Amino acid sequence: LSAVPDPAPRLGIVGGGQLGRMIALAAAPLGVRCTFVDPSPEAGARVAARQIVAEYDDVAALEELASVSDVITFEFENVSAPALAAIEAVADLAPSPRSLQVSQDRLSEKQLFHSLGIACAPYREVDSLADLEAAAADLGGRGILKTRRFGYDGKGQARLGGRGDAAAAWSTVGEAPSVLEGLVDFDRELSVVAVRSSTGETAVYPLAENVHRDGILRTSTAPAPGTDNDLAAHADDYATRIMDELEHVGVLALELFEAGGELIANEIAPRVHNSGHWTQNGAPTSQFENHVRAVLGLPLGNTRPAVSTTMVNLIGGVPDPATVLDVPSAHLHLYDKEPRPGRKVGHVNVTDPAGIAEIVELAETAAR
Ligand SMILES: Nc1ncnc2c1ncn2[C@@H]1O[C@H](COP(=O)(O)OP(=O)(O)O)[C@@H](O)[C@H]1O
Ligand SMILES: [Mg+2]
Repeated sequence: LSAVPDPAPRLGIVGGGQLGRMIALAAAPLGVRCTFVDPSPEAGARVAARQIVAEYDDVAALEELASVSDVITFEFENVSAPALAAIEAVADLAPSPRSLQVSQDRLSEKQLFHSLGIACAPYREVDSLADLEAAAADLGGRGILKTRRFGYDGKGQARLGGRGDAAAAWSTVGEAPSVLEGLVDFDRELSVVAVRSSTGETAVYPLAENVHRDGILRTSTAPAPGTDNDLAAHADDYATRIMDELEHVGVLALELFEAGGELIANEIAPRVHNSGHWTQNGAPTSQFENHVRAVLGLPLGNTRPAVSTTMVNLIGGVPDPATVLDVPSAHLHLYDKEPRPGRKVGHVNVTDPAGIAEIVELAETAAR
């Protein structure tokens, strides 16, 4: 009498932070058994998966992960090239190394957008202070310098307001290979989360409207208010073409700017994404469940929401759970992480607009 089909599908996850945790939590009801690699003995994914305690690029640990997994997936894209090569040799990876490699590097992302005819900010490759000075002059003296690799939550970036800033900006990014981007005068920030299965089936969630502060996502609202069908169709088309071109398997997020009614691509993430957390309570199938379905070649679930949902990030502090849950239609998702300033420790999904202001207030009070 076995409760799950034998042999149950086995999913390996590189990384056991909140994304790995929510993937594992979504995998459990499907009868999927998860194992993850993470160096922290406190990793949040422990709640729903077996852990191999090791660094992400520990080749022996990744081989052990491969030996207990049918497919290996990732909660982040910054896997080192040697580690990737080692596991690729012994395991099925989803997404593929190409998806990971392209999205590890802002320059290759921009080249991908260009090759697909998807608009993005003007950019120049920067490998030295002299490059930066020339690039800044080219782009009118203003822009954002971003490291090609390892940037997140606004880290690894410096704004340039005039030519005098070049040396300071170059030092801020640690003199690392970078790109200088022209500033986009956007009306708002949007993102589209989409999924492609190993069978080639695709599905796209509606656009989300994202509000950032200090480089960190604060809220996402989906479907993005006031979005016309034309904009939504463009977003669908961009996400699907990117996934098809990369032969991507799993969830992928495309961050966008909306400027004068046009979409401008910013960056891609080859994984479940913070701006897709609303799907846990606002869509028939969450991005986490669809990621699991996709990497295991199972049919994808419905991505079209019946209601509007706002996700509010909990950053640096957790409000009293009972107070959050007292707000009608508020759903609490904690990550089991120690609060520190600027650290994401959870989020709340609100499916009734009446509760949003109160949840934002609770989140900000807890952050202080
Ligand atoms: N070219 C740009 N023009 C204007 N604002 C930008 C530009 N690039 C980034 N930003 C702002 O900085 C934020 C972080 O940049 P992003 O490239 O998304 O890096 P991260 O990896 O930190 O998310 C964006 O969400 C947006 O608010
Ligand atoms: Mg971003």
